[in-house]
Amino acid sequence: SRNIRLAVIPGDGIGAEVVAEGLKVLEAVGTKIEATHYDLGAARYHRTGETLPDAVLEELRGYDAILLGAVGDPSVPPGILERDLLLRLRFTFDHYVNLRPVKLFPGVETPLADTSAEDIDMIVVREGTEGLYAGTGGAMRRGTPHEIATQESLNTAYGVERVVRYAFEKARSRPRKKLTLVHKTNVLTFAGDLWQRTVNQVAEEFPEVATDYCHIDAASMYFVTQPERFDVVVTDNLFGDIITDLGAAIAGGIGLAASGNVNPDRTAPSMFEPVHGSAPDIAGQAKADPTATILSVAMLLDHLGLRAEAARVEQAVADDIVERPAGGVGRSTHEIGDDITARVSS
Ligand code: NAD
Ligand code: IPM
Ligand code: MN
Repeated sequence: SRNIRLAVIPGDGIGAEVVAEGLKVLEAVGTKIEATHYDLGAARYHRTGETLPDAVLEELRGYDAILLGAVGDPSVPPGILERDLLLRLRFTFDHYVNLRPVKLFPGVETPLADTSAEDIDMIVVREGTEGLYAGTGGAMRRGTPHEIATQESLNTAYGVERVVRYAFEKARSRPRKKLTLVHKTNVLTFAGDLWQRTVNQVAEEFPEVATDYCHIDAASMYFVTQPERFDVVVTDNLFGDIITDLGAAIAGGIGLAASGNVNPDRTAPSMFEPVHGSAPDIAGQAKADPTATILSVAMLLDHLGLRAEAARVEQAVADDIVERPAGGVGRSTHEIGDDITARVSS
């Protein structure tokens, strides 16, 4: 098989710990990998003041895919690494689909009563390049009692249509063929109107897909009370961020939640990362669950067309998960990584 050229950005906190396990599993799959590590994150920022130098950004463009751990550190003011490193990568490489499966593996404990694996099997298609993440903003009279802070949500017909179309295609490929738009059209009347009209228009091309709508507040409730309502969820950048942490919680915890920042047009490399952050509260203690990163590696393999390899990794995770003791605790980060690696190799 061909060589995969992979850029690895371990990042901050538990990022490096979980990425190391993801790479172990990737190597065990037997595909030829040429991995190049990039030192980006809090340490680089403190040392040189750089977040993501232009030359590095252009170099990253040349890879087949990027594997990222997490960025963000309490020693760096909020937003610097998140915006200038992570969001810059998503925006520059046009990761307009942020794909976040919410799937309860058999045997995993969920906080929801009377809920089993078949009740929680959805995929959130989160828009990745627009919304409140990309709009302009500013502060006037900062630090005074008369301060005014604004933060605008940017929504373009082009940007909404392409992600909605992707979500419809995804829905058509799944057995239930259902798509739910999640927004707040009752208050965000300009952006909501664009999203709803776009869904209605694109729906005409997908008669086999059933469409539904939920306001974000109600959707948050239904995620907990009736998760079986959802198959494919399409939503904007911020709603998608929030609801996928909730999704992670109902599907067994943030340590299991995988994601792909996908450029479906393949004009730049896609980037795979766990949904969670750098978890400063447990960093350096080998307590982080690397499963989310390992499942992100499976998504990476799938994206590169290595479907059988992706399925093997997913199966190894599923088999490992079934044997996890109730209540969680037990193995360290690298023990979990080693056990899943052994299953992939055998
Ligand atoms: P977080 O996801 O890092 O942590 C939230 C909670 O989940 C913590 O209690 C943490 O210990 C736990 N947790 C996270 N991942 C875990 C794992 N793999 N195994 C076990 N427990 C895990 O979110 P936060 O605390 O809000 O943010 C911390 C930093 O991470 C911030 O700087 C934030 O900006 C950044 N962040 C980065 C990303 C990313 O890189 N994609 C995502 C979210 C947050
Ligand atoms: C995530 C994170 C990021 C986001 C932050 C760190 C910019 O929370 O990947 O979910 O909001 O997208
Ligand atoms: Mn998030």
